[in-house]
Amino acid sequence: MRFVPTSCVREGMILGKDLYNNIGDLMLAKGIILTAEYIKAIKNLKYNGIYIDDDISKDIPVINIISEKVRVDAIGAIKNIFTHVEKGNSIDIKHIEATMEQVKRIVDQLFNNKELMVNMVDIKVFDDYTYYHSVNVAVLSIILGIALGMKEEDLCNLGYAAIFHDIGKVFIDKDILNKPGSLTEEEYELIKSHSTFGYEYLKKGNKVPIESYVGVLDHHERYGGGGYPSGIKEDLISYFGRIIAVADAYDALTSDRPYREALLPSEAMEYVMGSVSTLFDPDIVKVFVRKIAPYPIGTCVRLSNGMVGIVVENYEDLCMRPLIRVFQDQGEEIEPYEIQLSDPHALCLTIVEVI
Ligand SMILES: [Fe+2]
Repeated sequence: MRFVPTSCVREGMILGKDLYNNIGDLMLAKGIILTAEYIKAIKNLKYNGIYIDDDISKDIPVINIISEKVRVDAIGAIKNIFTHVEKGNSIDIKHIEATMEQVKRIVDQLFNNKELMVNMVDIKVFDDYTYYHSVNVAVLSIILGIALGMKEEDLCNLGYAAIFHDIGKVFIDKDILNKPGSLTEEEYELIKSHSTFGYEYLKKGNKVPIESYVGVLDHHERYGGGGYPSGIKEDLISYFGRIIAVADAYDALTSDRPYREALLPSEAMEYVMGSVSTLFDPDIVKVFVRKIAPYPIGTCVRLSNGMVGIVVENYEDLCMRPLIRVFQDQGEEIEPYEIQLSDPHALCLTIVEVI
């Protein structure tokens, strides 16, 4: 299957993966032929794209790193906490515990898929951003934790910190959080306080361990200093805080926000790599570039020689040079064949655009 941005979806295309609505119900089943009505529903849900099956891509599998069920349940659990607090209720132990249970399920599934590189392009929707983002950051952080050799108990603690990293935003006015224009100094200071609010909320709840809520407190600290709330640097920032900082930045950059459009995974990867030592811990970035695919499987790309193809496979140590199945040359359809970008004879070729 291959990924097609929503703006390029056409009637008659065949859906490659089940599609769920924002409350986790199956909306369209894999294999269905898309009609104008279905395309309208996809656009209404603000999916940034879908997977389709066609002759050139039907044998390319895109494997979910966690199941849709676990992801939707985790999103629901974190949403419940926000809703509870927004209604003016105080500490929500029941939903905190339910969310922690979901984190354990995520850890279990990721452990079973630890050989996979991350293919996260398909899980972006604009609505309910905070909940999706919280779960994405948990998934990315746990993947980094696994690659860094953490044991299961630490992975769960890291996952709690990651899924709750922005919980403090529930105490901040939504109009300020989603303001499309530039913020006043006062508004920015208020937004910055979300890490402290989150830390205090979780500490008071007395359910997650101390290293988890300290990770929440530290997730906007910068490795080179100058972050908030404390401005501490390097090893003074908790390990969890340093991991979440990378996962948070990557997921936020690859998502549409009210004030800017999403970057491509490859562009976000460039940003992370370019911020080593200033924003991020070099040892964590080293692991990050091995595990996250900047050109996820199923992505359509243009090569520097004008050919267009689909990413078929990624390799941990050569993340910028995947296997490509080309099917178009200078705008003309051609008999598909595969180019291994890591082969010596293909080293002059680069990916210049994601289509
Ligand atoms: Fe944050």
